[in-house]
Amino acid sequence: MDATTLSLIPQPAQLVRQSGTFVIDSNTRIAVSAGAEAVAQRFAEELRRATGFALPVDTLPAEADAATGTLALILDRTTSGGDEGYSVQVTPNQVTIRAAAEPGLFYGTQTLRQLLPVEAYSPTPVSGVTWTVPALSIQDWPRFRWRGMHLDVGRHLFPLDFIKKYLDLMALHKMNTFHWHLTEDQGWRIEIKRYPRLTEIGSQRAASPYPADRKTLDGVPYGGFYTQDEVREVVAYAQALGITVVPEIEMPGHAVAALASYPELGCVGEGYAVRTFWGIAEDVFCAGNEDVYTFLENVLAEVLDLFPSEYIHIGGDECPKVRWQSCPKCQAAIQREGLADEHELQSYFIRRIEKFLNGRGRRLIGWDEILEGGLAPNATVMSWRGSKGGIEAATAGHDVVMTPNTHCYFDYYQSEDNEGEPPAIGHYLPLEHVYMFDPVAGIAEDKAHHVIGGQGSLWTEYIPTTEQAEYMAYPRAVALAETVWSELPDRDYDAFMERLRTHLQRLDRLGVNYRNPFA
Ligand code: ACM
Ligand code: ZN
Repeated sequence: MDATTLSLIPQPAQLVRQSGTFVIDSNTRIAVSAGAEAVAQRFAEELRRATGFALPVDTLPAEADAATGTLALILDRTTSGGDEGYSVQVTPNQVTIRAAAEPGLFYGTQTLRQLLPVEAYSPTPVSGVTWTVPALSIQDWPRFRWRGMHLDVGRHLFPLDFIKKYLDLMALHKMNTFHWHLTEDQGWRIEIKRYPRLTEIGSQRAASPYPADRKTLDGVPYGGFYTQDEVREVVAYAQALGITVVPEIEMPGHAVAALASYPELGCVGEGYAVRTFWGIAEDVFCAGNEDVYTFLENVLAEVLDLFPSEYIHIGGDECPKVRWQSCPKCQAAIQREGLADEHELQSYFIRRIEKFLNGRGRRLIGWDEILEGGLAPNATVMSWRGSKGGIEAATAGHDVVMTPNTHCYFDYYQSEDNEGEPPAIGHYLPLEHVYMFDPVAGIAEDKAHHVIGGQGSLWTEYIPTTEQAEYMAYPRAVALAETVWSELPDRDYDAFMERLRTHLQRLDRLGVNYRNPFA
């Protein structure tokens, strides 16, 4: 194997090739230090699926006991690179993966898997393959700590198996944050025990628009939701893959499904139905009604019990002010609080929610519209309308996650030939644009540390099936993974495409319905 045949994605920080190979065969043993057993068992299972070898996993009393022919997984607090960093040393006699913490050790195993022949991703044992690993030394660590993928389950719902596959694929690419967009105008998707109508009524809509003709409804009822047990299952599944699940509960806009369930929470107070058309609704939570804050705090209390994530996403995007302008309660709140206008009322709303979350040890993150009317004091901004909002927030000293639609909106077309593509929301975001994404572009050097990472966003108005979701996300998510993990100077699109060519053979074996950029 020469240097060009290594197809690691994301590209590691440091890699030195050496001569020779290590071969994994039925005699290979996995030796682990105390605490590394769970990662080792997972890796042993991945190897077993593809190779058929049931390699024994033995805990070592001391690292020095690792013998020739072993694959050693060592947790060592003194390893550099943070909790997600790791090193891989491959010699003809031994493989050693070393990390300070479990997430890094797990990433080391995923790098090792990429060093094996692509058959290592086969779901069933492949015979006739020599499982060679090239001798080398890798030191690796992430560039950003928020390496995210978002999924909108409000517009279309996806089964638990798909959510798990989405998480598996994220982990494979060293992505660590799953932004789960759980509530929308067109559907409320998370069970809340205290408010059963949210799912009895709010999870069901009467019809959906036809993808190719957005003005005509199909007349087919659509709905569903995740139970709290299912949510716990997803959170635990993600945790084992080093992924934090950040839930999004939308407020004050994108809330029609909640209003249809509890009409008294809207300014008008009656006549709501779970929205069938896509787009932006004028009906939003009433910002002048104390019952709305009580409701949202009760909802969030259950959400906090389910999600250990430090960050809680509260939406905040696309909230028209027209109802607030003519609502006596909203106008009274503006008077009472001495607010200048409805934008400041939105800011007041978000600040109250932030206070609630901070009081419970969590941090608020919201879309960049939360800048309008003044940003809540500790808020983190998710920049989607380009990078402008993120730049403004970082410059003001707030943390930022970048998911600018210019580089990170995977619901956009990925080919200029729209005729040959499934109907999408519009626009054009080719793989190369994603690869050229730099989360800190346009930000002063002394503020760049406020950019905690980047994220690919997958809105699903025009994505009714799991196959299409994969098609839109992959391989763009592969390019994104490298932009948030690997340092900028290492970026070379042609070299990435060469590595991607091999990488797609892995995705083939994992049954991923990606769009083939080489076809
Ligand atoms: C968004 O795309 N409305 C955040
Ligand atoms: Zn109101």
